[in-house]
Order: sequence, then structure tokens, then C-alpha cells
Amino acid sequence: MRSITVSLGERSYPIHIGSGLLREIGGRCVEAGFPLRSPILVVSDSEVGPRYLPMVEASLRERGYTVVSHVIPAGEASKSLAVYEEVITTAIQAGLDRSSAVLALGGGVVGDLAGFVAASYMRGIGFIQMPTTILAHDSSVGGKVAVNHPLAKNMIGAFYQPAMVLYDLDTLSTLPPRQVASGLAEVVKHGLILDREFAYWCRGHASELLALNPEALGFALERGCAIKAAVVGNDEREHGQRAILNLGHTIGHAIEAVGGYGVFLHGEAIAIGMAGSALLAAKLGRDQAIYEDTVSMLSALSLPVRLPAQYSEDELMEAMMHDKKFKEGKMTFVVPDSIGAVSIVNEVQQSAVREVLAQLKKEGSPW
Ligand SMILES: NC(=O)c1ccc[n+]([C@@H]2O[C@H](COP(=O)([O-])OP(=O)(O)OC[C@H]3O[C@@H](n4cnc5c(N)ncnc54)[C@H](O)[C@@H]3O)[C@@H](O)[C@H]2O)c1
Ligand SMILES: [Zn+2]
Repeated sequence: MRSITVSLGERSYPIHIGSGLLREIGGRCVEAGFPLRSPILVVSDSEVGPRYLPMVEASLRERGYTVVSHVIPAGEASKSLAVYEEVITTAIQAGLDRSSAVLALGGGVVGDLAGFVAASYMRGIGFIQMPTTILAHDSSVGGKVAVNHPLAKNMIGAFYQPAMVLYDLDTLSTLPPRQVASGLAEVVKHGLILDREFAYWCRGHASELLALNPEALGFALERGCAIKAAVVGNDEREHGQRAILNLGHTIGHAIEAVGGYGVFLHGEAIAIGMAGSALLAAKLGRDQAIYEDTVSMLSALSLPVRLPAQYSEDELMEAMMHDKKFKEGKMTFVVPDSIGAVSIVNEVQQSAVREVLAQLKKEGSPW
């Protein structure tokens, strides 16, 4: 088992990564000080619940906890105020009290929703994350929890840190291959922003990662979580440096908004966005090799790096204007300076972004 600590003063918490952790959850809750008299609410989804919920419930009950589970429909649509209210209803009916915990068993959707329940039920109770997707290595570190509003994603939320994260690699074996690659996009992103050696390591070990080799995957998730933890540790509430985690996300979010959520998975959209950021870097005078290496890393991980022709530049630009990171008429982008280092560049000209979008549709070398 690998363990790291997210250092946030009295809100610090451990992340444990390894095999067979689901069945340890009961003991770990006891160790963490959750009292047996307070019920535990497990939130999961319709894909993950049938596979892994029985083991988690059994482990908690064996230790003497009262457990109630709430299974939401799989998919982003469940990150809604309506589903949030249903989960709160379950919590009230089950008699959760101030010493209880909400345990998220699932991907980022379950983690964000259950986290917001934990943050707001009785003004905040215990929260435990058990991520079951690769992407959730990202969402389980940093404490951002939220549900969506019909007009905007993640609009209703909080910063709320879990008491611990238990990442059982065995659960990843049932993840669909596209979800595997999509999650690896965020893993390699962590290398691209801060760890050159790790970014190239991901390219060199791409086939092992895609095949879910436990050794390679364990290392990659540990590194990914550790890099994110370091960034968040310096800037918990995104006043400055934390924004580097948005590499590829301005263009990626626009692709998701224009194409409709579900056409590209999140990691796929941000892979195209990261290729776009590297093109922008070349436009701003950085070495063109950054683009070539970025594309080779993403391609090795079976991720898309081109924008399909039907995406219109006008619509994408419009979507970016609505992005909450767009301030005072200027476009801010995270731009690579080299592989493993980025800058936040304010006042990027809209014409440059438009050219990047057009270029992303073309095959071959960038300029
Ligand atoms: N809080 C943050 O900092 C943060 C960061 C990144 C993403 N997010 C959020 O995370 C969400 C995306 O997360 P995600 O990609 O994990 O999506 P997800 O939770 O929807 O999971 C993807 C799909 O895989 C299924 N699944 C999950 N685990 C499985 C398993 N082990 N076996 C088989 N199927 C499984 C799910 O049911 C779902 O259909 C988005 O809502 C995004 O906004 C949050
Ligand atoms: Zn992301």
C-alpha cells in the first residue's frame, strides 16, 4: 500500500492507495475515530453499487456500525439539487448525527455529490472518499465538492476536505477502457504542469497504464495525487497557483459545453485542450517541441488531440467567454513553458485563441 498526506494544517488527511482496501474500511473508520453509535451513509451509483457496495457494507457492519446506503443513477445528471435533496432525505431518515460520516464509493460524480451532502448536512459532518475511477484521483484531492445547476456546472458547492481517501486499485479492473484513458489525461496533466520526469514516464509506461498494471497504476496515482496535493497545500482556495491545475480546461470545458456533455468524456476534452495549450505556447514563442511531446504523450495514452471539424470556432469562443475563469474581457490561459512547467498568462488575445482552435482541426505539424 502507498500512502501520502495532503497537508492542510488541522484539515490534513491521508490518501491510501492499494489492493484490497474496500474490506478494510470498517477498521479504518474505527481508527479515524468515527463512533459506532453514529450511522454511516454510503453513497454510490448504479454501476459501482452492485459491484462493490456489499463488501463495503459488510466491512462496516462487522465492526459494529449501522450502515445505510443510497444508490444514485450513474452519470453526471445525478450531480443535481434534486438528487442532493434525495440523499439528504435518506440521511435524515437514517438518523445521521453530527458524528456520522458520509462515505463516497464511486467516481467523481459520487464524490462531488456525497461531499456536498457531507459539507452541508447539519453544517458539516464526516466525509470519506473511496474513489473507483482513475479520474477520481483528481477529484478526491483538493476538497472541491459541488452539484450542478441547469445553467452551469459545479455552481453550487463548497471547499470541504475528507477525513481520509481509500483508493482500492482492484475496483479499477471493471472500469470501461475509455474511462481509463480519460482518467489518465488528468494523471499526465499533473506531470505536464509540475513534473517533467513523470510526464515522460507516463508516455514510456502508457501501455502498462492502459492495461491497469497494478505497479504502474499505483505509482502513477500516487504521483498524480501527490502533485495535486502539493498544489492544493499551497493554495487551498484557488487564490493563485492552484489555477495551474486548469491546464487544458478552458478549451476542454468549451468542447464539453458545445458538443454536449457525453460526446467527449472530460479527460478526452481536456486532452484536446492540452494540445491546444501547447499550440498556444508555440504561438507565444515557446519551443514547438512542447507541442510535439505533449501530443505524443496524449496519443500514447489513446487520447484525442484533434478537434472534430464540426466544432465551430465561434461557438467555442462563445463558450469560453462564459467560463467562470474569464475575467474583465481578457482571456487567461495556463500555458506550458516546457514539459513540466507552466505559466498563467493573462491577456491572451482572442485572435490567437481562435487560430489555435482552427489549427487543432488540422493534421500534421502545427504552424
Ligand atoms: N472535485 C474536483 O476537484 C473534481 C475534479 C475533477 C473532476 N470532478 C468531477 O468528477 C466528475 C467526473 O468524474 P468521473 O470521470 O469519475 O465520472 P463518474 O463518476 O461519472 O464515473 C464515470 C462512469 O464510470 C462508472 N464507474 C465508476 N467506477 C467504476 C468502476 N470501478 N467500474 C465500472 N464502472 C465504474 C460510473 O458509474 C460512470 O458511469 C465530474 O462531475 C467532474 O466535475 C471533480
Ligand atoms: Zn479536469
